[in-house]
Amino acid sequence: MTEYQLWFAIEFIIFALIFIPTIVAFFTGAPWIPTPMPRAKRMLELADLKPGERVYDLGCGDGRLVHLAAKHYEADAVGLELSPLVYAWAKVRNFFLRSSSKILMRDFRKIDYRNAKALVFYLLPDILKVMRPKFEMELRPGARIVSYAFEIDGWTPVYTEPRDPKRHYGRIFVYEVPKSIKANGNEAKK
Ligand SMILES: C[S@@+](CC[C@H](N)C(=O)[O-])C[C@H]1O[C@@H](n2cnc3c(N)ncnc32)[C@H](O)[C@@H]1O
Repeated sequence: MTEYQLWFAIEFIIFALIFIPTIVAFFTGAPWIPTPMPRAKRMLELADLKPGERVYDLGCGDGRLVHLAAKHYEADAVGLELSPLVYAWAKVRNFFLRSSSKILMRDFRKIDYRNAKALVFYLLPDILKVMRPKFEMELRPGARIVSYAFEIDGWTPVYTEPRDPKRHYGRIFVYEVPKSIKANGNEAKK
């Protein structure tokens, strides 16, 4: 192999590692844009977590939300991230923060959410539309869903945190699975 070919191979691998997962993540959920930290903290207040309860961040980015959930609420916090580089960064960050949250390299579309007390995310409206029937099928009564910036089409939030135009922060939408309605597929975990 010539020096030129070696460099080409290295560049190709770097390209594949950075751009391909980023493009895949873009089309399956959203690109990596972190939730502003004050908004992340507020989202977790609104998630109303108790110690030991399971919360997922769907597309956890650098893992900031799950770290805060584990640290301040002692939640069983799991971050799901598809992009390998973002995942690696979240793991490094978690290591240095000594976080008890878990970061998994998984596609959030393929996770079973029946054990979730809360879901938090910052995802685009199209994927929220795709995920809605899954949420309706799997989430248990009383489960909370806290979405940064985008609404879930067809659902009515129980609370909406308004925009903060000074700081350019988006809205936060909070949803709750009604306690009186037993979602399909939830009998099994009783
Ligand atoms: C807008 S960022 C939000 C990051 C983090 N939740 C936050 O609020 O700071 C969306 C993240 O979702 C990830 N993502 C997109 N599609 C995904 C999928 N199908 N499964 C897991 N992660 C995904 C992206 O790589 C990106 O890091």
